[in-house]
Amino acid sequence: MLVDSYGRTATDLRVSLTDRCNLRCSYCMPAEGLDWLPKPELLTDDEVVRLVRVGVERLGVTEVRYTGGEPLLRRGLPGIVARTAELSPRPQLSLTTNGIGLDRLAEPLRAAGLDRVNVSLDTLDPEVFRRLAHRDRLPDVLAGLAAAERAGLRPVKVNAVLMRGVNEHEAVPLLRYCRERGYLLRFIEQMPLDAQHGWRRESMVTADEILTMLAAEFALTPDEPAARGSAPAETFLVDGGPYRVGVIGSVTRPFCAACDRVRLTADGQVRNCLFATEESDLRDALRAGATDAELADRWRAAVRGKRAGHGIDDPSFLQPVRPMSAIGG
Ligand code: GTP
Ligand code: 5AD
Ligand code: SF4
Repeated sequence: MLVDSYGRTATDLRVSLTDRCNLRCSYCMPAEGLDWLPKPELLTDDEVVRLVRVGVERLGVTEVRYTGGEPLLRRGLPGIVARTAELSPRPQLSLTTNGIGLDRLAEPLRAAGLDRVNVSLDTLDPEVFRRLAHRDRLPDVLAGLAAAERAGLRPVKVNAVLMRGVNEHEAVPLLRYCRERGYLLRFIEQMPLDAQHGWRRESMVTADEILTMLAAEFALTPDEPAARGSAPAETFLVDGGPYRVGVIGSVTRPFCAACDRVRLTADGQVRNCLFATEESDLRDALRAGATDAELADRWRAAVRGKRAGHGIDDPSFLQPVRPMSAIGG
């Protein structure tokens, strides 16, 4: 098992498959993009599958989420999904994506064994989309979402980051859109993970503000806190249910105490927290011939040192060097 010094057990492995992306969401990347990791530094498909296997067989990992950058840009994704779906005990397999390309890939990924997807959708307005993501791809995202639903990658979850002066007025339309289609919408507080280090606490749209905006239009009834477990979202029944909306208050309502996550970057480093300042290498160890048992030992040691929380409120808080696109949400 992957247990840290506060007694939390990491069972949810989030694997970044690439740091590249075909969008440039401003809360993540500058418009001009970033210097991508050189290909030889990335784990190969075989290496990814091997490390996931070590996690599942030796370390108690029960859920695997593929992320990026944009994981659909990784050509080997269906193969990686298929091979990790054959592991025993079979992990739950999910994907966090911007949705571009999902119209084509939803079916093959479902056939390969993917269970569900989370798709980022911050706006329904093509102009706002272009401003926020610096690309004109809203129709592709909406088509991807519809394809995921058709392919049965359920529940289809939608992640929306609200930014002041950009898309904060879209909370209500986004909820209506997702409710009509049965997508499970979660609003997310913006975290200090952008490559440009432009995050300011004052400009963050908070969970409280989001709930106030929604409550002006819908009756919201909080779900039982006990039902939440380690999920990042607080959920609310909308107009008596059964439809629910979620709010992920990563900054103002941190869920670190119940965190069950561990991350593997595309270049094979274990990150025990989104906000970790240190990483532990598995890639070089693997390439130098480490056995599964040795890799598992390194991994356990990496998780043991996990911090109590993100510490965004500490005066000494330092944003991680890796931006979100290179960590994997
Ligand atoms: P499920 O609830 O299992 O569907 O996954 P998820 O919500 O964890 O996954 P997703 O990748 O969709 O992430 C949603 C939001 O939660 C993103 O903004 C993530 O960055 C944020 N998030 C994910 N993991 C963590 C974490 O460990 N700490 C914090 N503070 N936020 C996280
Ligand atoms: N703060 C909060 N959420 C973010 N995401 C990307 N960058 C940030 C940030 N700085 C979201 C994306 C995606 C998920 C993986 O994380 O919108 O849905
Ligand atoms: Fe790409 Fe995701 Fe970053 Fe947006 S948040 S630029 S979709 S990696």
